[in-house]
This record gives sequence, C-alpha cells and structure tokens, in this order.
Amino acid sequence: MTDNRFLLVLDEGTTSTRAILYSLTGDLVATSQEDITQHYPAPGLVEHDATEIWDRTLRCARAMVERAGGADHIEAIGVTNQRETVVAWDRSTGKPLCRAIVWQDRRTEEQCRALRDAGHEPSIQITTGLLLDPYFSATKMAWILKNVDGAAALGDRLAFGTVESWLVWNLTGGLHITDVSNASRTSLFPLTAQSWDEGLCDLFGVPRAALPEIVPSAGAFGLTKPEILGAAIPITGLAGDQQAATIGQGCFAHGQTKATLGTGAFVLANMGQTPPRSEHRLLGTVLCEVAGVRTFALEGSVFVAGSLVKWLRDSIGMLGNAAESEALARSVPDSGGVVVVPALSGLGAPYWLPDARGSITGLSFSTTRAHIIRASLESVANVFHDLARAFAADGAGWSVLRLDGGMSANDWLAQDIADVLAIPCERPVDVETTARGAAILAAIGAGAYASLEDAQTMVSSTQVFSPQMDARARNTRLGQWKAALGI
Ligand code: G3P
Repeated sequence: MTDNRFLLVLDEGTTSTRAILYSLTGDLVATSQEDITQHYPAPGLVEHDATEIWDRTLRCARAMVERAGGADHIEAIGVTNQRETVVAWDRSTGKPLCRAIVWQDRRTEEQCRALRDAGHEPSIQITTGLLLDPYFSATKMAWILKNVDGAAALGDRLAFGTVESWLVWNLTGGLHITDVSNASRTSLFPLTAQSWDEGLCDLFGVPRAALPEIVPSAGAFGLTKPEILGAAIPITGLAGDQQAATIGQGCFAHGQTKATLGTGAFVLANMGQTPPRSEHRLLGTVLCEVAGVRTFALEGSVFVAGSLVKWLRDSIGMLGNAAESEALARSVPDSGGVVVVPALSGLGAPYWLPDARGSITGLSFSTTRAHIIRASLESVANVFHDLARAFAADGAGWSVLRLDGGMSANDWLAQDIADVLAIPCERPVDVETTARGAAILAAIGAGAYASLEDAQTMVSSTQVFSPQMDARARNTRLGQWKAALGI
C-alpha cells in the first residue's frame, strides 16, 4: 500500500448521501455530498426514491474517484447506510418497484399492534433484540408485498434489501448481500444466527427467497463492475450507520458508549460477545462481525434530533440555518419554562409510543423565538437523561458518553448534554465517525489490519465537555420535562 492509495466510503444517510476519501491511515482527504429528497405523502409516511439514492451516491463516488486520481488509486470501498429503510426491486430489471419506505415511516403500526396483541413481542425481543414497532424492516417488506401492484406476482424475481444492499447490488451489477449489523435491524434475523429465521419470515409474511445473503462486516465481498467507477474495486466493509459510528468512535471495549446526533439520535453501548437482553425497552443489536467474532450492542434509538432543527428551519421558518440555533440558545439564560417534546414521528426509546405527537408547552407572552429554539435543543439532553436511566437499569450505565454526528458540532448542545447527564462527554475532532467506522471496516476487510483494536490508530482524538450545571437547575429542568411528557 502506498501514499497515493485511498479508501472510499459511501455513507448514505437519511437526509444526504456522501462519498468520503480517506488515506489508508485514516486521514480524511475529501468529501462529496448531495441531499436526498424527502417524500411525505401523508402524515406518518416517509419515502425515498431509491433510484435517486443510487444516482446521487454514484455521482458523489465518481467525484471522489476523480479526486483520488482514478479508480486504480482506490484500495477498497466501505459502505454504510441509514438502517431499516426498505428497497424492493425486480432482479431481472434492477428497477425499484416503489419508493423506499424509510425507517421513520409509521404505516405498519396496525400490523405491529396486531402482533403485539397476539403476544409475539416477548419472544421476538428475546430472539432478535428488537421490539414490535414500525421502525424495523420486516413489516415494511410485508406492506410492499401486500400493497404494491405486481410485487407478489414477481415471485423469485422480487428482491428486498436495506440501503447498503441496494447500493452493493448496483455497484456490482447484481450481488445481493447485507451485513449482520443491517440484518439485525429487520426483525427476521436472530442475534446469534448465521441466516434468516424461517419462523420469523413466516410470522411477518416476508418470503425468504427475496432476502439477501448475510455477510460479516469486513471481508472481500465482491468487486465493483468496472464501468461503474472505472475499475473493479473490492468492497470490503459494510455496516449500518449507527454501528459504523460506534466503531468510528473507537468503542471497541465492553461498556464504551457513543451517541450520534444526526437525523435522529442513536446511543449504542458495546456489550461484548454476549447478546444483550433489555428489561427496559432498549434494543439488542449486532454491532459488527470482524475476524469471525460477533460483537453486540445495546441501543437506544431516538427518532428525532437534527430533524427537529431541520423542521424548525424548513417547515416553520424559525431558523435561517441550523448553525444559528447555537447562538439563539446561548442568547437566553434558560428556555423560560418552554418545553419541546420532539415526538414528530412518535417517540422511540425508551418510551416507544408510535402514536405520540410533538408539543411545545409553557408558552407565555414573554416567550421568544430564542426560548423555543433553546427548548428544542434541550429536548435532546432531556431524552438522553431518560435513556441513561434505562441503560443503567439494564446494567450498562454510562461513565462517559462519546458524542458525534453533524449536530454534535454545536458546542452549546454538547455542553448541555454533559450538564444534564452529569457526566463528561467526549467529542472527536472529526465528528463524522460513521464514515470513519466504515473506513476502518473497509481497511480490515482489505487486510490492512487484523482486528478493530489493531485499527485504533484510525480513530480521531477527542475534546471533553465536563458537567457544570448545579443539581437544583438540573432538577427543575427535568421536572418540567417530565410534566410536559405526561407519562
Ligand atoms: O436507524 C436509523 C438510522 O440508521 C438513521 O441514521 O444518520 O440517517 O440519522 P441517520
């Protein structure tokens, strides 16, 4: 390996897709990014155009290949993705059958409720680590099969996949794979299994034949079709974005915990080689499988974080740009009693209330835009406080929380989280740990490192935010939060 060879990461998130070029030792070299169109056909429905995802990802990838000096300079590719989102396509044409159903979409709540009422949740949780919620992929697949014209009639030509699966299919010209971390978000994959579970496929109504082959997180998975990027490049790393961020944060040891502040906020604690069993509405999930070792994580999935700021900017017009929120939050000493409950697509962990809706309470004539913006940012730490309790009750308390993701660049927010949790929070110099994690997996898969620990040098250094809030102010704030939440 030489200095002019690079790792290319494709990081397909909920609101944007990116291609990032890293040196083989983990230096970030360049990034290309494009937005993804959000389709909201009705309340609770969220869709993406899978063709757009592929076209825009490819455009970003080609820009980075050019920046590298051509495809011959790319050592390997890592792919990371928004998880749970389902793409359905026809294997014979490679064309999507309908828009992708996004992880935030709530349309399958009825099927989830019926399965819950029939008493299936406890056994599903024990097997897969997941709860019965529209968030996960299985009910979205079943919905497509039932409601999209021609889907059921396709028979063996029908292919389902999460977004990494869709991208790899297109990059390679027909390789249909998914990695263990993404498979563990479908409800069809037992945490300790090697393949899909027939019983779960039958229960959810998903044909086994439509699903991809499950592979580890690092390895020689396949080569890109030469005409796609200019050469046959090995794809050697695959992971769901939250698992990739956990790796990019260097959470390699049991108990190390990160929180990624992106569209949503996802807290994952490394639980080592024992599958976690939550008693407090958290999720058990596969963190990764590297060199034959499967590692698990305990996860708290918060559905709304950066998307709240985006909504305040784009739909309500309360912000000119996201960065303005920091100055506004700092411009007032507190939220003036205003509390925002960020339930814009139900509430995820630790509450799991799919029908909950957002609220702004505590308004008075003295309330200003700054108070509402500050209360919106405060909602992140408020939810994290409740999550921290659930993690501690499950035996995975946090002594330090590692923050990352675009929204963590907001210093005020990082400090507020440290204050409300009363623990130090660390933030890496490079907050884009999702892509970094995929680069680490791609480097391992390409043979540059033997294990995650070996790749430690690719992890970014950190800045610490120490708690400063006094206990009285914290208690008042959390009291107002509890009252607004009303549960
Ligand atoms: O589970 C959903 C998650 O993967 C979405 O991540 O980065 O798009 O907020 P992000």
